Amino acid sequence: MSQSDPASQFQETFSATPEWHIKAPGRINLIGEHVDYLDGFVMPAAIDRSLEMLVRANHTDQVRIWTTLVGNREPVSFSLSNLEPQSGDRYWLNYIAGVFEMMRRHGIELKGFDAVITADLPTGAGLSSSAALETVSALAMEAVTGTSLNPLKRAQLCLQAEQEFAGVPCGMMDQLAVGMGRKNHALLIDCRDHSVEPVPIPSDVAIVIADTQVKHALGDGEYRKRRESCEAALSILGKESWRDITDSDLADKEAELGELLMRRSKHVISEIKRVLKMRDALLSGNLEPIAEIMRAGHESLRDDYEVSCPELDFLVDAAYDFGTKNGLIGSRMTGGGFGGSTVSLVKIDAAEALKSHLSDRFSDQFNREPNCFIAQIAEHAVSTPFVTK
Ligand code: GLA
Repeated sequence: MSQSDPASQFQETFSATPEWHIKAPGRINLIGEHVDYLDGFVMPAAIDRSLEMLVRANHTDQVRIWTTLVGNREPVSFSLSNLEPQSGDRYWLNYIAGVFEMMRRHGIELKGFDAVITADLPTGAGLSSSAALETVSALAMEAVTGTSLNPLKRAQLCLQAEQEFAGVPCGMMDQLAVGMGRKNHALLIDCRDHSVEPVPIPSDVAIVIADTQVKHALGDGEYRKRRESCEAALSILGKESWRDITDSDLADKEAELGELLMRRSKHVISEIKRVLKMRDALLSGNLEPIAEIMRAGHESLRDDYEVSCPELDFLVDAAYDFGTKNGLIGSRMTGGGFGGSTVSLVKIDAAEALKSHLSDRFSDQFNREPNCFIAQIAEHAVSTPFVTK
């Protein structure tokens, strides 16, 4: 049995053919980092690296899963009758069981199924493998129960699962990007009302992702601390929403905020502005300002929000050394940080050269290869009846 053949794996494991094929993309975020849980604007895009699930109803109350995502190649199962947060080597099941619990609370009568999950999307790389896993799980349960959630409701249930089961107090950017992404477009999401505006990416622009393979774990507390600091800052600022805060509001409260909350706040309000500048640049066709927008975004995450790491900083510097005169458009860390990946926009004919440059520079510095690849902007998650090829 070859690992590249999930349908044969399904047959071998469950002695049956799948009924559904479900696919959810990962995402990059072009700008708008750590502001989705603060009413900000964000600008992610779905990519052509994904997580796939083959599914067949099994008419029991058990969900049985075989997957390449974790070391154990035996099927793992759990009952739908008592869904609770998992820990230890079953922690990853929170992204599945948590979604089912939220669907149950939403009124859906859950049904058991068998599944094989495979992925060419790296996990823990800041590319939203968690939201992809949540979304394929929701779509699988929808398929076997004959229900259909709208993308916003599905994203909300997936977010609740991540918050309550996986314990990460994240915003909804990833779930919306995975569930609503559009080919060749980034999504400008207003996280105050969750409205989504597709922003076309010019056809001569390519995306290079460089995964440091420094594993981030957003459940480990630093992410939560950032969110709590910002909530404390907002209450000192005495406003309802970060969208109502100006530079002069910040200056007025500098003494009360203190040095740390001042830096965190500066990141938030400057990052929200950068997203709108990015939209203007992309729509105007003059991409020149993007180099500065992305560089300033990275520096703000590095110095004021403190969620970068030396490997990410190195890759961003290396991209700017490659230079705009050689085709770079802009580069920054992407996703939650503390490891993970950088995203670079580059003229299409310079993409291979940038990819090699980043890879070589990184290997010289850290004595190991990063995972660099060129990504296309893809469509959102979909569920289709399984057809034997
Ligand atoms: C993670 C979270 C998102 C978002 C980003 C940072 O990906 O899941 O909600 O906060 O970090 O922008």
